[in-house]
Amino acid sequence: MKYQELISKMTLEEKCYMLSGKDFWQTRTVKRLGIPGIFLADGPHGVRKQAGAADQLGLNASIPATCFPTAATMANSWDVDLAEEMSETLAEEMISQKVNILLGPGLNIKRSPLCGRNFEYFSEDPYLAGKMAASYVKGIQKKGVSSCPKHYAVNSQELRRMASDSVLDERTLREIYLTGFEIAVREGKPKAIMSAYNRVNGVYANESKHLLREILVDEWGFDGIVVSDWGGSNDHVAGVEAGAHLEMPTTGGDSDEELIAAVKSGMISEAVVDERVDELLSVIMQVYPATENETEFDVAEHHAMAQKAAEGSIVLLKNDKHILPLKSGAKVAVIGDFAKNPRYQGAGSSVVNCTKLESTMDIIKDFDLDVVGFSAGYDRMGKPDEALKKEAAELAKKADIVLLYIGLDELSESEGLDRMHMKLPKNQTVLLKELLKANKNIVVVLSGGAPVEMPWADHVPAIIHGYLSGQAGAAAMLKALTGQINPCGKLSESYPFHYEDTPAFHYFPSKERNAEYREGLYVGYRYYTTANIPVRYPFGYGLSYTAFKYTDLAVSNEKAEFTLTNTGSADGAEVAQLYVSMQNGKVFRPLRELKGFKKVFLKAGESRRVTIELDDKAFRYFDVKTNQWEIEGGDYQIQIGASSEDIRLTATVAIAGSGAKNPYDNDNLSCYYSGNIKEVTDASFEALLGHTIPDGKWNSDGSLDLNDAICQMYYAKSRIARLVWKIMTGIKNKSEAKGKPNLNVLFIYNMPFRGIAKMTGGAVSMDMVRGILDMVNGHFGKGFGKLVKGFFAARKTMKKAGRME
Ligand code: BGC
Repeated sequence: MKYQELISKMTLEEKCYMLSGKDFWQTRTVKRLGIPGIFLADGPHGVRKQAGAADQLGLNASIPATCFPTAATMANSWDVDLAEEMSETLAEEMISQKVNILLGPGLNIKRSPLCGRNFEYFSEDPYLAGKMAASYVKGIQKKGVSSCPKHYAVNSQELRRMASDSVLDERTLREIYLTGFEIAVREGKPKAIMSAYNRVNGVYANESKHLLREILVDEWGFDGIVVSDWGGSNDHVAGVEAGAHLEMPTTGGDSDEELIAAVKSGMISEAVVDERVDELLSVIMQVYPATENETEFDVAEHHAMAQKAAEGSIVLLKNDKHILPLKSGAKVAVIGDFAKNPRYQGAGSSVVNCTKLESTMDIIKDFDLDVVGFSAGYDRMGKPDEALKKEAAELAKKADIVLLYIGLDELSESEGLDRMHMKLPKNQTVLLKELLKANKNIVVVLSGGAPVEMPWADHVPAIIHGYLSGQAGAAAMLKALTGQINPCGKLSESYPFHYEDTPAFHYFPSKERNAEYREGLYVGYRYYTTANIPVRYPFGYGLSYTAFKYTDLAVSNEKAEFTLTNTGSADGAEVAQLYVSMQNGKVFRPLRELKGFKKVFLKAGESRRVTIELDDKAFRYFDVKTNQWEIEGGDYQIQIGASSEDIRLTATVAIAGSGAKNPYDNDNLSCYYSGNIKEVTDASFEALLGHTIPDGKWNSDGSLDLNDAICQMYYAKSRIARLVWKIMTGIKNKSEAKGKPNLNVLFIYNMPFRGIAKMTGGAVSMDMVRGILDMVNGHFGKGFGKLVKGFFAARKTMKKAGRME
């Protein structure tokens, strides 16, 4: 142990108290030994340091910071250098705000377009997500502070995220849900990682030895700390035993005392606690010095960085007859509320309090355009508004081109709740129809951090997507519209025609406890390409104001080389993608999988030889029988493409196998060979899992326990509990109907009972929750007794915790 000497001077109390927060955001100090505390704050598209009231839902304000484009946006840049540069800037803000660990990036896989937090995540593809995340980590850590990739792992739905159990086979786990983390950890070397709220195959992520030790440490060589998601620790002792270091936020001494008692009773050895403390101290000592001095960051410079990041991430989806870029002096009407009140980030714990926020209408005068006027066109909250619509149509008639700013509103995309559908708000599409009657030259400028259905796409000549582009996104978009920059981003996720087409359509979100990942490996384009499902815009797709030609592919076992030529008349960048495909293998696999990419900038007419390396992930599959990565021997096609559905060059390489036998010998697996996984039977899923499907039903005639969600109280034995449930459901439904979901109520509604203790800073202890549960389960007297006794004990513990410094 690195800090053996220091640890030998610490009391058991001090050691155990180190392993959970001092308050909502900080770790504990041990003053007498000179152990400093560090500050953790949300990110990752901007620092969210709360100086006042703390919360993890983005409800209370934070200190102003630059709001960069969200991860979903940055992933469209496919530009690992840009991501690293942006993250360095982010780190400067962390340092000036004395934040030692930034809670991000988020790199959960976009299993369904409806996950409410997709805007915070990179991609449906683990390779792209991993590479982008590694860049964030490197950029942040260059400055001596740390990132904290999250949420490890298989946390792809918001609904009951603290109570659900992600059930999936080991191969899908490794290839889809862990590969991104693997890349981020191996290449970025983060000093912290955040465990997810959910269970993975029955075990809470924060208590999973398999995830936290066997894979993270033993396989990937992680040497940082595991931080629980806020309130996500279930059994602190089990967490520490499994490899978790820091329970957040504080429980006012409650969990700490549990740990002390567990050591004293021999349930967990003190040596394990020492080991965790040592690992934690090692990280604290590495990240603390960076924030010791007072520094300031250059607000204007960082705003410019945010703009540069946004510029690199814009995706041109459609551009008929080269309507874009707009000609100098083009007569345009600007329509859409988002042009005045930009949609630039999502809701929840990642919300950044911008240093400055520019809207299109603030700055359009600086561009060479003849603006005939602005009209909001629609009510932002989705209410139909005839007058607004009419006014906009009148305005549209006066212009040659309409710039129509539409997209998802902030309430559609929030932490804590998943989207209900994949459509744009109806009043926006109704407006679009109306405008088409007045002026066909509509350029749709989209905002939103996740795919939407676009039945209207065929009727407009141009669509350009800015995603959630941060505080400087408006200027970036205007520069793209007017041709000052060439929009060269490509989609980091597929845009299906209909939500019903998506692979997890029948399985997402989980209804009760189990979130069954029946679609297995077939997430996003892996499904669409294999099962031949047409999509509106495929993964990896994006146009630009120029064109690229791919020629002369040469491949070896180590790399692919080809020539890329900018054949158009504008300078621009192309994101060349390398997919690997094995079509006659014995082990089932998607038709093609992304295994490399490069963003190449070329001047008009320029040509360059491009090399993409084939790394250790290019040919591997995870073998559920040998329980390790294997390679199936045979011929592999290397496909170089401009998108997952636009393969320009192919060549074959013969690869030697690692010798393992095909692990799949079960007849029930045919759906996984064909990719037709929309309706996987129990038998097929069990064949994939290698065991029976765990019972995921709520025990609706039984009693509730610590890990049941509060929303399950509808079957509580106590009438009062059922009444409380009714009231909460009423508030929840009412706020949702109003289009303004109450995040606080939703958080509590979906939270397991234990969360009451984990999220109240010790005011309600776990013993008190046990009392509440007894009452909920119809044992009022017994429960009330426990509650009262727990109350006085909790006061004592909190007092002690307050003295621990
Ligand atoms: C979120 C995390 C976040 C944490 C602290 C949780 O609810 O899931 O992503 O970092 O709160 O705000």
